[in-house]
Amino acid sequence: MLKSPLYGVLGVGLVATAVLVPGSSAQAVESPDISVTNAKAHLDQFQSIATSNGGNRYTGRPGYLASANWVKSKLDAAGYTTFLQSFSTSAGTSYNVIAEWPHGDANHVVMAGSHLDSVSSGPGINDNGTGSAGVLETALAYAASGQNPKNRLRFGFWGAEELGLLGSKYYVNNLPAAERDKIELYLNFDMIGSPNPGYFVYNDNPAGNGARDDLTSYFTGKSIQTEYIDVQGRSDHAAFRALGIATAGTFSGAEGTKTSAQAAKWGGTAGQAYDPCYHRSCDNINNLNLTSLDRQIDAIGHMIWNYAQKEYGSTEPPAGDNLIQNPGFESGAVNWTGTTGVITNSTSRPAHAGTYKAWLQGNGRTTTENLGQSVAIPSSATAAALSLWIRIDTTETTTSTVYDTVKVQVVDGATTTTLATYSNLNKSTSYVQKTLNVLAYKGKTVTIRFLGQEDSSLQTSFVIDDVALTAN
Ligand code: PHE
Ligand code: ZN
Ligand code: ZN
Ligand code: CA
Repeated sequence: MLKSPLYGVLGVGLVATAVLVPGSSAQAVESPDISVTNAKAHLDQFQSIATSNGGNRYTGRPGYLASANWVKSKLDAAGYTTFLQSFSTSAGTSYNVIAEWPHGDANHVVMAGSHLDSVSSGPGINDNGTGSAGVLETALAYAASGQNPKNRLRFGFWGAEELGLLGSKYYVNNLPAAERDKIELYLNFDMIGSPNPGYFVYNDNPAGNGARDDLTSYFTGKSIQTEYIDVQGRSDHAAFRALGIATAGTFSGAEGTKTSAQAAKWGGTAGQAYDPCYHRSCDNINNLNLTSLDRQIDAIGHMIWNYAQKEYGSTEPPAGDNLIQNPGFESGAVNWTGTTGVITNSTSRPAHAGTYKAWLQGNGRTTTENLGQSVAIPSSATAAALSLWIRIDTTETTTSTVYDTVKVQVVDGATTTTLATYSNLNKSTSYVQKTLNVLAYKGKTVTIRFLGQEDSSLQTSFVIDDVALTAN
């Protein structure tokens, strides 16, 4: 984006182009400049991954997993809670990368996503390195910005879109209904740097018209004309739309031909495809229009910055609701923070329900591990209980000495209180339910934390599942 020199000194490239909405008292959110230089560097990375892996980033081939691991590592380093979700396809195992910014109200989730896979015939730089680079760079810029989001931001990088939207379908089908209900908006970006670009805004979801209109007016405010496009089932927002979730997105065009009217308003070549290299081996690092990419990624930033602050109404959950998000760990690390790898679907230990659980310790070495989640306990509570299911197996043989422990703690600002300690002496290879009183924390936002500690030898495994915190 063109940048005024006056604002060029601002740390994360924020440009003060906030426009106050007439008649609105809401504080307008500054529109960020998402760096096209950084997004282009991500595309160079995708190209080099393809080049060193047989020329593609196709599902089931090494270039795809390398892409997923690289995206995940960037998000991990920025402070995201990430999850590599694997699923099988006819072409081999594929993966979604899910990243959540662990701040803001988890009852209101704003998502943006893009497919990360290419077709088998080429490196997939415009389709869909561009959407992935744009979503990734927006996520990284948000993390670096020091923004304090009202809502929870989540980013999805889908596998196997080219095989029939498989990754996004797998993700939504494996989300518990309560988690689906929390997704307020899903924004999709699939091909946003087409060499002969159009500026299309998805218009295929009546539930998503608010975001569609915000995208359109954003572009209008930048003097960029847009056209609506009915994308229907052609990209990953379809899986979300099918659940009744609001969706929107942008697109710079694929195999379709630019008309002369479009060339007049957008430039480029009439009578030629928006992307002549669509699904071909020439969809490489030269198959880009960086002006299109630059404008579109700024639109992603505009939407994320604004929807992060959108007021979705009361956040006080109904009495008796489980206040813990992802309580049975079936969405992997989503909503939880702590030691990497604690949340697992390893078959070496059974889950209480589903396949995932939190497996603390079991190393047989001097180590500590932790896992936590921030929870707001309503001030109106007259009862508040934390419950969990725990399974403990150990190779310690003592019946009197505590060697290895897991503590259930409440972190309230600088004060950490241990509610219960379980040890090798509490060995039980069938799950046992424990219930602890947390009413003392009503009206506070605290972190519920599990802290595992082991001594130098003989393992003890503390496996926790189906955590609940209910207030009445
Ligand atoms: N989903 C298509 C692909 O990956 C591209 C596309 C996106 C086509 C949006 C139409 C609209 O090949
Ligand atoms: Zn494609
Ligand atoms: Zn695509
Ligand atoms: Ca589980």
